Amino acid sequence: MAPDPRRGLRILAVESSCDETAVAVIEDGRRVLASVVASQTPLHAPTGGIVPEVAARAHLRWMLPVLDAALERAGLRGPADVDAVAVTYGPGLAGSLLVGLTMAKTLAFLHDRPLVGVNHLEGHIYAGWLLEGEATTAAPEFPAVALVVSGGHTFLVEMRDHLEYRMLGGTVDDAAGEAFDKVGRMLGLSYPGGPAVERAAATLAQPGADPPERRLRLPRAWLGDSLDFSFSGLKTAVRRLLTEEAGGTADDGVALPADLVVEVAAAFQESVVEVLATKTAEAATRKGARTIVLGGGVAANGPLRAAVAERAEALGARLVLPRAALCTDNAAMIGAAGYRRFLAGERAGLDLDARPSLRLADAAA
Ligand code: KG4
Ligand code: ZN
Repeated sequence: MAPDPRRGLRILAVESSCDETAVAVIEDGRRVLASVVASQTPLHAPTGGIVPEVAARAHLRWMLPVLDAALERAGLRGPADVDAVAVTYGPGLAGSLLVGLTMAKTLAFLHDRPLVGVNHLEGHIYAGWLLEGEATTAAPEFPAVALVVSGGHTFLVEMRDHLEYRMLGGTVDDAAGEAFDKVGRMLGLSYPGGPAVERAAATLAQPGADPPERRLRLPRAWLGDSLDFSFSGLKTAVRRLLTEEAGGTADDGVALPADLVVEVAAAFQESVVEVLATKTAEAATRKGARTIVLGGGVAANGPLRAAVAERAEALGARLVLPRAALCTDNAAMIGAAGYRRFLAGERAGLDLDARPSLRLADAAA
């Protein structure tokens, strides 16, 4: 069906791969008419991590109210007012993915609209294409290098054109967000660890705060000149340090001195940020990137954003930094990527299945 010529092409996007239930309406791949996210964070806080069955049940509970809220916010009468339905089909938790897939397929079938399957990871990259409010900025230019840093994934990818991904490197163990979350737990900080570690570290730099007696330095895992990452050694270094200094970690039940928590949070964040920013700049240099895109929950981290911005400026590359709400999981980014797949003529059948281990691209040759 041809879209109404008086308006842009509208995509209804659905995301439920992890612990956010999200629906968005996107126009022409870049304008966010509505983006509604129901976060399950408080639900998972008591366990300090996501329990898949609990997440899937919460998606079931929230999917329809979130859809209604998105349609209302976008000023649409109903799903028939969109031109296509895009949905995340992987990677993620199987039970969670199924909830979004089932709703997207039902809407596509009932309203006779094409269905487009989107990889969650390309969604994090395409968040960089979304416009912020009313501002119209030029779309990111190719070649681009994207750093995606989330709770489940950490990788650098090159894009020479839309939907073309060449993996440059990735984590060999923990994802950056996972490391933040684990260190947050060791320090006795709130869940999720990323924002809590950032807040704790920021108190170190606060004007008027007592300067600490010494500045801790934790190791950096460079892995030679590869563009891969490793965070498990850093995590072990934090555990060892807390054991030496305080007899254990907060998740062992040890009450840690507040100044130690702040210092370790700052030193940990500094190590992660330096490695991520340095390798991103190196990838951009090697690939002659005109644009650097940051995506994924950890891209909400202020010091990381600042460090990559500094490197991008030195390289003369444009840095595209989605605002924090578009870095963490949302459906607007799925709509942005879905729009590109729609334009490329991709259509999924109603047999589109959840692919929990879906990959973005095969390793570079
Ligand atoms: O992209 P996302 O919402 O979900 C996944 O696809 O994984 O990322 C969530 C991750 C969590 O590990 C969380 O601790 C981390 O992003 N995160 C942060 C910050 N905000 C969220 N990490 C560091 N600094 C932040 N400000
Ligand atoms: Zn994500």
